[in-house]
Order: sequence, then C-alpha cells, then structure tokens
Amino acid sequence: MANTYVKASILFQEKQNDQVYLIKLKGKFTGKPGQFYMVKLPDSDLYLPRPLSICDLDKEGITFLYQRVGKGTSRMASYKKGDFLEVMGPLGQGFFPISADKKIALVGGGIGIAPFLFLAKQWKNSIDLYAGFKGEPYFLEYFKNNVDKITIATEDGSAGYKGYIIDVLEYNEYDLILCCGPNMMMKNLQKRIGDVPAQFSLESRMACGIGACLGCSVKTAKGMKRVCHEGPVFLGQEVIFDDED
Ligand SMILES: Cc1cc2nc3c(=O)[nH]c(=O)nc-3n(C[C@H](O)[C@H](O)[C@H](O)COP(=O)(O)OP(=O)(O)OC[C@H]3O[C@@H](n4cnc5c(N)ncnc54)[C@H](O)[C@@H]3O)c2cc1C
Ligand code: FES
Repeated sequence: MANTYVKASILFQEKQNDQVYLIKLKGKFTGKPGQFYMVKLPDSDLYLPRPLSICDLDKEGITFLYQRVGKGTSRMASYKKGDFLEVMGPLGQGFFPISADKKIALVGGGIGIAPFLFLAKQWKNSIDLYAGFKGEPYFLEYFKNNVDKITIATEDGSAGYKGYIIDVLEYNEYDLILCCGPNMMMKNLQKRIGDVPAQFSLESRMACGIGACLGCSVKTAKGMKRVCHEGPVFLGQEVIFDDED
C-alpha cells in the first residue's frame, strides 16, 4: 500500500479540545513508530494531502491525533463516522530503536506528542514522557499505562511546571532522547543535550510525500535531506535549524 492512496472509512472522530481531534480509520494498516501517512480529503477543493504521524495502530485500524491549524485540518474535523478519507503510507523512516535495556525520554511539545503513543506501546524500554503545552494538557491519559513517568509543563501554569518542558528534563538520566514539537523547542533542546544521543522528528510542508518533489528538504550536517524520505526522524545533533526557528 505504501505508494498508493486507499480509501478508508472513519470509525470514530473524537474531539479532545477546541483544536485537537483523535480520528480512527478502519482497515489493515502497517507502520513503525515515527512513520506517517499522507491524508487526502475527498470531496474537498484541497489538492495537496496532509501528512499525519501514526498515533496508534491495531488490527481494527489506524489512529491519528491532529490539531486544527488551517484549511485541511479544519475540513477534516467536520468529517463524521462512516465518511471516507484517502490515505497513503506508511511513509518515511521512523524512530531508530535502541536495545531494550536503555532508558528513553520522550519529549513532546503540544501536538508533537502524537507519534509517541504508538512508540510507547511498541518499544520495551523504560520510557518517561515529558509533555509541554501552552495551556491545558490533553491526551495524556492514553499514556498512563504505557510509560513509567509523565512530567508536564505548561506555559500558562495551568498544569505541572510553569514554563518550558525542556527546562525540567534531566538530560543525563537518559540513554536516548526523542523529541517531536515546534522547531524552536528542538533547537533549544539541541543546544542543551551535548552528546546525549537524540532523535528529532521534523515537520516540513509536504506535497508528494514520497521523495519526488524535494519540497520538504531541510538542512542537516550531511547536506539537504527530504523530511518525507530520509526523515521525518533525524539524529538530533545533525539537524541544522534556521536562525528564524
Ligand atoms: C511528517 C509529519 C507528520 C505530522 N504529523 C502530524 C500529526 O500527527 N498531527 C498534527 O496535527 N499535525 C501533524 N503534522 C503537521 C500537519 O501536517 C499540518 O498541521 C497540516 O498539514 C496543516 O494542514 P492545514 O491544511 O490544516 O493547514 P494549512 O492551511 O496548510 O496551513 C495552516 C498553517 O499551518 C502552517 N503549516 C501547515 N503545514 C505545516 C507543517 N507541516 N509544518 C509547519 N507548519 C505548517 C502553515 O504555514 C500555516 O501557517 C505533521 C507534519 C509532518 C511533516
Ligand atoms: S514532499 Fe515531496 S520530496 Fe518530500
């Protein structure tokens, strides 16, 4: 299925808050933590599909956690149970696993927690989740039985530590740090972690999703790389962030 779109019906669409939705599509899907699917909205005037990370996978179907930010995600939020979407995937390289005796920190900024549920369910490591939000946290109850510890930070102080989640992360306690969130967060994390092994899941605007258009390329220490093909996960120390990030 990887490079063709297939139709999939919506099993449920659940609102988590005003901006965030959990949607599950019926079918036999595959993928690894950190990989993503391109999602097309039939009956819409939007030509380009939107990339969404695998949030969970089981024998019933695939789940995405997404935030309404623009035209596509707003339109998607209006779809109901039984409606169809078209999806292509799994795409990209997921997170690179390490041996199960190693301790891992998952660092998610806002909707950046999306790919971590599937990872926390699949990987056998000892895993702590660090989740940072601007305001009220969401979706964390799904992690409760799948990680050892959850640490929360909010910018407005509505829950957990008041401030940025990377300020409370104990870098040296972990063998590996995985991060997904706004570029500014990953850029600041990169400055602090020194040599602690890290992997960052990057976002970029995408058109084809399969490595053909080069539109999603980002700068790395090994040259320009396509987020959809060589990524979206890159070694944390290799990503080169722009000054404006
Ligand atoms: C590999 C990958 C995995 C992703 N996984 C998820 C996920 O699991 N859940 C989720 O909510 N979002 C995820 N995203 C981001 C998601 O694809 C975008 O939010 C979505 O495409 C926006 O579509 P739209 O039509 O609603 O917004 P548009 O109308 O296209 O844009 C609205 C605003 O969002 C900005 N924007 C749009 N796309 C991106 C992007 N990719 N990166 C940064 N800014 C963007 C635009 O510049 C604009 O300001 C992922 C992106 C990538 C590349
Ligand atoms: S989106 Fe076309 S190369 Fe990545």
